[in-house]
Amino acid sequence: MISKQLAGEKAVEFIKADMTIGLGTGSTVYWTIHRLGKMVKNGLQIRAIPTSKQTESLAKELGIPMTSFSEVSQLDLTIDGADEIDTHFNLIKGGGGALLREKLVAAASKRFIIAADDSNLVHTLGKFPLPVEVVPFAWEVTAQRIASLNCKPVLRMNNKKPYITDNGNFILDCSFEKIENPLDLSEKLKLIPGVVETGLFIDMADLIIVGSKNDIRLIN
Ligand code: 5RP
Repeated sequence: MISKQLAGEKAVEFIKADMTIGLGTGSTVYWTIHRLGKMVKNGLQIRAIPTSKQTESLAKELGIPMTSFSEVSQLDLTIDGADEIDTHFNLIKGGGGALLREKLVAAASKRFIIAADDSNLVHTLGKFPLPVEVVPFAWEVTAQRIASLNCKPVLRMNNKKPYITDNGNFILDCSFEKIENPLDLSEKLKLIPGVVETGLFIDMADLIIVGSKNDIRLIN
């Protein structure tokens, strides 16, 4: 856990006054958001767009000023975590269920920084089941179509009921084992009716902050 804390806290060094910041979701950016809350208390002026209701309530609790896409169309920087990071900076995200808003916020950002620990670094994506957000209607058919791409989709559950995203959708966790061509897979998934978004973030990250037990590395 300490490694995620190190990476998450290091990320705030890239936040400067007057920036609009995208705040990711998960146990790594939890530390970023806490640090940022302290900086705001000490007078730093920024505004933030959260990538989930969970992040929004934490940021509000810490007094971080919020904005939205009705007020801004571009962010200076987004800081988020990742479930897997390959050697080409492709990511699997969505372990925390926030992949759709995370992708929208990252895509609107000039700079996208990932904070993670060394267990998230992989040679080839796919060991972590790929989260795919789908509309609830006909999800069973959508799952069959996704399965025909050579994976096992499993409907994410929460207290014996389907897990519902902040956007009112379901998530299928898809075990591919090895994703040799993430761009090709992403394109195929996006062509399936019912697929809203995938957890494949291709060539979006600008900088990876990797925490380990004793140190922090920056990869860019
Ligand atoms: C949430 C995400 C998270 O960034 C990802 O799951 C990593 O989380 P953590 O920082 O807890 O390891 O994509 O949808």
